[in-house]
Amino acid sequence: MEELEKIEQEIKEALETAKSKEALEKIRIAYLGRSGKLTAILRSLKDFSVEERRKTGAAANKLRTEIEKVLDEKEKKVIGKEGGRGEDITLLVLPKDKVYFGSLHPLTIVGRDIKKIFTSMNFSVAEGPEAETEYYNFDALNIPANHPAREMWDTFWVKSQTDAKDGKNLLMRTHTSPVQIRFMEKHKPPFAIIAPGRVFRYEATDSSHEINFHQVEGLAVDKKISLANLKFVVEEFFSRFFEEKLSFRFRPSYFPFVEPGVEVDIKLPGEEKWLEVMGAGMVHKRVLEGVRIDSEKWQGFAFGMGVERLAMIKYGIPDIRLFYSGDLRFIKQF
Ligand code: DAH
Repeated sequence: MEELEKIEQEIKEALETAKSKEALEKIRIAYLGRSGKLTAILRSLKDFSVEERRKTGAAANKLRTEIEKVLDEKEKKVIGKEGGRGEDITLLVLPKDKVYFGSLHPLTIVGRDIKKIFTSMNFSVAEGPEAETEYYNFDALNIPANHPAREMWDTFWVKSQTDAKDGKNLLMRTHTSPVQIRFMEKHKPPFAIIAPGRVFRYEATDSSHEINFHQVEGLAVDKKISLANLKFVVEEFFSRFFEEKLSFRFRPSYFPFVEPGVEVDIKLPGEEKWLEVMGAGMVHKRVLEGVRIDSEKWQGFAFGMGVERLAMIKYGIPDIRLFYSGDLRFIKQF
């Protein structure tokens, strides 16, 4: 018992001064290790009388438990300060320190993919304003005032400008097609461009309609351009974008700024339904003449497609309104 009291005293002093993991480990070995002082006492119990053994044994075991507890606590504190290898990670990662990874918005991902594919086919990227004049959005695209085709686009007109004349009324562009006109006014053919951007429609919203969304316009003007060139570029683009073996269908359609006009449908492997993904055609003679490009010498193809629609097909997104919901549970899936 005397021996035990001595050891207890020693350990307490040693623990006071131990400030490192190594120092604590030394104490553990010196007293609790295989040839430690306390271990020696516990081992020698078998030589004691029954009564002595009961008393001393109980005290020695109690001391061992206490020392172990103090050592463990001290070690945790020291590790917390020292850090480094072998640390108790439960001390380092606390709920308040949770780390969140950011992710790209699906429209950013899809927008980048589209640009990458077209620039690899030698298309340049052009831009135009979102608040556009009536002239560029309609007139120059062979959609004069009072033409019934204007009803194809439900338009947000900008109020303060409604008194302007000669196509100068301001509106929020209903498609990216006006960028075609702006680009052709400033550049001589041959050229091939895409024009990605935001467009606006004065419409009721539902799972497939939004009042603002994105389009990518395409325009290529050169000598001897034909529908065959359009067909090649379009099929190449969609095949690379969806990374699937697709079926294509080019259906006759009407858009005032192209002649002939088509709509492009695709079918994904194993699917029954045709999906409408693009409007396109050969640039209308009147559109070329309007920007002083000789339509006898030059021809062009043009196309326009909805970016949200492509993202919805590619990722199986069921509702267009999710794109602007600001819901992180949606964004974090991409
Ligand atoms: N601008 C049309 C729309 O928003 C889409 C379109 C159709 C664009 C045919 C084109 C085209 O360039 O040739 O509905």
